[in-house]
Amino acid sequence: MTLASGATEALFVAIQAIVRAGDEVILLDPAYDSYEPAIKLAGGHCKRIALLPPHYKPDWQQIADAVSSKTRLIMVNSPHNPTATVFADSDWRALEALAEKHNLYVISDEVYEHIVFERERLGANAYPALAERSFVISSFGKTFHATGWKLGYCIAPADLSAEFRKVHQFVTFTSFTLAQYAVADMLNHHSDEVHALGNFYREKRDCFINAMQASRFHMLDSGGTYFALADYSAISDADDLSFCKTLTREHGVAAIPLSVFYETPPDSRIVRFCFAKREQTLLDAASKLSIL
Ligand SMILES: Cc1ncc(COP(=O)(O)O)c(C=O)c1O
Repeated sequence: MTLASGATEALFVAIQAIVRAGDEVILLDPAYDSYEPAIKLAGGHCKRIALLPPHYKPDWQQIADAVSSKTRLIMVNSPHNPTATVFADSDWRALEALAEKHNLYVISDEVYEHIVFERERLGANAYPALAERSFVISSFGKTFHATGWKLGYCIAPADLSAEFRKVHQFVTFTSFTLAQYAVADMLNHHSDEVHALGNFYREKRDCFINAMQASRFHMLDSGGTYFALADYSAISDADDLSFCKTLTREHGVAAIPLSVFYETPPDSRIVRFCFAKREQTLLDAASKLSIL
């Protein structure tokens, strides 16, 4: 394991360690925004495959069809920001088979690994053949409610970790010492907190989604992370960016448009809400949104 200054640094470093000029990298849209700039900086090209509402389930045949002789890496993220979906065992197995067949590296962004509700908690390291070719990246920021402290890590086999460290050495070299002591203290003395995280956020999810039943938003399933998607097509025909600006400026509730996570957004009216808030804040937000 290598400690990094947030998952953001770990993602950047893993990409620089693996991607060379002309390589292709498969991304599943909607994709977290830091992936593509890091790939381009390394000289790589992104092949972006759209996951579609309402289930955002990967079509592994479509993904396999996108692999070419230039494909070097596939990036996945489960639990997923922004769709709040969680890979099933069958998804991990399909990824493992694909990566083995085409000799691909995998970056598995698992920053929300402990925030899983109904499904079993699974990740790339639960599958030995997948673990052999994966950089598994996670974030103490998400796990210990300390995003701004920027402490994350990368778990990878020894040969991949050696390559990772060659880049990390010249990016940050080390991470903020006091934050490392604080996280070590949490891990040594409060590790139960990690196991309580799923329930902690499940209660917030249920509170928000129940309160939103009074609105004209159609709430999609949220299986993990602290996000929930909402379809606003019964309320407005506006595009999602304009709709989010109106929500924020005129109704005092911020949301994120889904289209910004896509290369080619599907024709849908869906926004992302974050429920990592106090219960009263969630209830206030739902009541403001229910007048729309
Ligand atoms: C999917 C995903 N990956 C990575 C990150 C970055 O994590 P960190 O704050 O540890 O850099 C985030 C933060 O929002 C995220 O949602």
